[in-house]
Amino acid sequence: MSLLQQNPADATFGRGADEPYARAIRHEACGGLALREVGQVSAAAGPTLDLDFGKWADDADEVDRSLLRHARGPLLDIGCGPGRMVRAAGRLGLVALGLDVSPEVVELARRGGAAVALGTVFDRVPAEGLWGTALLVDGNVGIGGDVVALLARCREILASSGVLVVEAHRDDDRDHSYSATLVDADGAQSDVFPWAEVGVTRLTELARACGYTVERVFTASGRRFCRLAVA
Ligand SMILES: C[S@@+](CC[C@H](N)C(=O)[O-])C[C@H]1O[C@@H](n2cnc3c(N)ncnc32)[C@H](O)[C@@H]1O
Repeated sequence: MSLLQQNPADATFGRGADEPYARAIRHEACGGLALREVGQVSAAAGPTLDLDFGKWADDADEVDRSLLRHARGPLLDIGCGPGRMVRAAGRLGLVALGLDVSPEVVELARRGGAAVALGTVFDRVPAEGLWGTALLVDGNVGIGGDVVALLARCREILASSGVLVVEAHRDDDRDHSYSATLVDADGAQSDVFPWAEVGVTRLTELARACGYTVERVFTASGRRFCRLAVA
């Protein structure tokens, strides 16, 4: 579907058309997934970003677990995918829930033992306003393509003492919102959806403007993170 036909409110990561995300979840695709930036009227060209679906579907690694070590529950993993962070949080004794808009990935996560709600972060979520920690990792700060709107929405979801842990782009100066499609190695392509990439420089500016305190900016195995407290 072209951008001209699309209702942006209905467009989410990797869905529609050839359903490459669902194909990856069902192991129907050989090879990886990539995010491709598209132009205004055609989904044909543009730079791509390789995504590590294998990692998402795996167990949490040391860096993932380090994000949870000082987390206060209950914890909400926004855009949780197959649920590795939710399972890892549960092992640490935290009450944790995943949230994802993809029915296929929610089913996969539940089969793997993670508690996951199906829905978009932009609609009302379970226990709205009561979450001690929320996560936006694996590029999920890009959800919706509007970082300010997402940060503001997370503030509504969190408790007044809540903390948002955000994975930023590896390039601190990155600040890019764009129209994307998800493609797989077989050429299957999703509908176009809005996405964003943001490094810590812009992310911390936007977070302060949205009423967060920046508690910590840190690096773990080359990945960049910010810990934002509801001010
Ligand atoms: C870049 S992937 C991140 C993968 C994930 N963290 C994992 O471990 O598999 C983005 C995830 O966010 C989900 N997502 C996209 N838009 C969303 C929305 N508006 N609300 C909730 N989840 C969303 C997608 O379905 C996908 O699973």
